[in-house]
Amino acid sequence: MRFPLTLFQFLSILSLFCSYSASAQCLDNQKSSLLTLFGSSPIPSWTPKTDCCVWKGVTCDVSGHVTGLDLTNHGIRAPINSTSLTTLSSLRNLKLSSNLFNSPIPVSISGLSKLTHFNLSNSGFIGHVPVEMSRIKGLESLDLSFSNSLSSLRFKSHDFGHVIGNLSGLRELFLNEVDISSPAPESLGILSNLTSLHLSGCNLTGQFPGKIFQLQNLESTDLSANSLLSGTLPEFPSDSKLQTLSLSSTNFMGELPNSFGNLRYLRRLEVTACNFSGRIPSSLGRISQLSHFAISQNNFSGRFPPIKLPLALFHFLSIFSLLCSNSASAQCLHDQKSSLLTLFGSAPTPFWTSGTDCCLWKGITCDRSGHVTGLDLNLFVKSENFQFAQ
Ligand SMILES: *[C@@H]1O[C@H](CO)[C@@H](O)[C@H](O)[C@H]1NC(C)=O
Ligand SMILES: *[C@@H]1O[C@H](CO)[C@@H](O)[C@H](O)[C@H]1NC(C)=O
Ligand SMILES: *[C@@H]1O[C@H](CO)[C@@H](O)[C@H](O)[C@H]1NC(C)=O
Ligand SMILES: *[C@@H]1O[C@H](CO)[C@@H](O)[C@H](O)[C@H]1NC(C)=O
Ligand SMILES: *[C@@H]1O[C@H](CO)[C@@H](O)[C@H](O)[C@H]1NC(C)=O
Ligand SMILES: *[C@@H]1O[C@H](CO)[C@@H](O)[C@H](O)[C@H]1NC(C)=O
Ligand SMILES: *[C@@H]1O[C@H](CO)[C@@H](O)[C@H](O)[C@H]1NC(C)=O
Repeated sequence: MRFPLTLFQFLSILSLFCSYSASAQCLDNQKSSLLTLFGSSPIPSWTPKTDCCVWKGVTCDVSGHVTGLDLTNHGIRAPINSTSLTTLSSLRNLKLSSNLFNSPIPVSISGLSKLTHFNLSNSGFIGHVPVEMSRIKGLESLDLSFSNSLSSLRFKSHDFGHVIGNLSGLRELFLNEVDISSPAPESLGILSNLTSLHLSGCNLTGQFPGKIFQLQNLESTDLSANSLLSGTLPEFPSDSKLQTLSLSSTNFMGELPNSFGNLRYLRRLEVTACNFSGRIPSSLGRISQLSHFAISQNNFSGRFPPIKLPLALFHFLSIFSLLCSNSASAQCLHDQKSSLLTLFGSAPTPFWTSGTDCCLWKGITCDRSGHVTGLDLNLFVKSENFQFAQ
């Protein structure tokens, strides 16, 4: 009899399915570790009687192990319980940004060998970044940055180099305002997958290894506000993917290389208050996407090369001439304001009202002396009738 057999097969397959889908529940040890992770103050919305895999911020795999934890901006003040953290050894993604831990990063973090994404930005951790983090070999994204200078995270003498030297798979490295206070290590150059390198305000010293600008996948680099950091820009490869280059308030010097024209994806160039000199390379005229640039307080010389200028570069030219003026005051300088108001001929942008301080206008950035250092073109290209004055 064929039919009953087929029905029997169907039923057994069905029961197999049901038991399989029911097994993906939170494991007991994972639940108790989550409940004790912040000592005696667990996350209020986590109710112990329910499956921890459905708790807010928690992600599990099919075996019921916690693989992701996103507790961004949860007002957490208690230090992390190391014992509990160690039990969550399947974690791949750990986001604890925007909290107030006010305690050191636990060394036991290095036991999370599967971690790929680790984000502690603005989370109030203090003290030394544990060198043991170098054991998390699969780390692809590390963010310990602070958006103000209140960070008191720092690397012990050569630890930064050791950590970087071991984490060769890093794609994103954000350490803004973390105190490194040592030379930028050569080992940064081995990060072949690196797309974002943000080390603003890190007290970096010495000579920055130029080959890092040549990394094939690099899209965004911010080394600004490291006044003791020296360096020169190397020739850029023709397939460079660089979109953002920010070196303001560093001691980078020398000329802008002529291969700047290779940076066809460059949108943001900030080299205010460095020590660059020489001529602005004419190849800059090939960069069609440049929309933000700040080049004041350097030692550039000569005139602009007579080239056919794309829209963005025409703007660059205007700003460049603005920056050559010499007065000094804390507010928007008069000549800066009038240049801005005439920049677009007889049709100034409606965003700008002549009675106000031009440093507060939309799209405008000034330095402390009242010079316009930045202009965000994106604000204007959207208005259809927009044209530059000739
Ligand atoms: C840390 O968690 C463990 C269980 O994972 C618990 O036994 C211990 O009491 C916790 N310590 C603190 C200080 O909460
Ligand atoms: C870290 O988290 C903050 C806050 O959610 C976010 O703005 C930032 O982009 C994250 N960093 C990375 C590298 O994804
Ligand atoms: C890896 O880290 C260890 C310390 O944890 C350090 O001794 C070693 O030099 C590092 N390796 C590299 C290549 O930087
Ligand atoms: C870079 O990324 C590729 C593709 O994801 C990966 O196969 C490779 O191992 C990574 N390189 C390093 C040094 O981790
Ligand atoms: C840089 O070093 C100075 C002096 O050692 C220190 O006061 C400052 O806090 C450091 N900067 C950062 C971002 O840690
Ligand atoms: C600025 O660069 C010039 C060479 O272009 C160099 O001679 C001078 O020492 C640099 N200034 C500082 C403060 O490093
Ligand atoms: C600026 O460059 C000129 C030569 O082009 C040089 O004489 C002068 O010393 C430089 N100034 C600084 C501060 O480097």
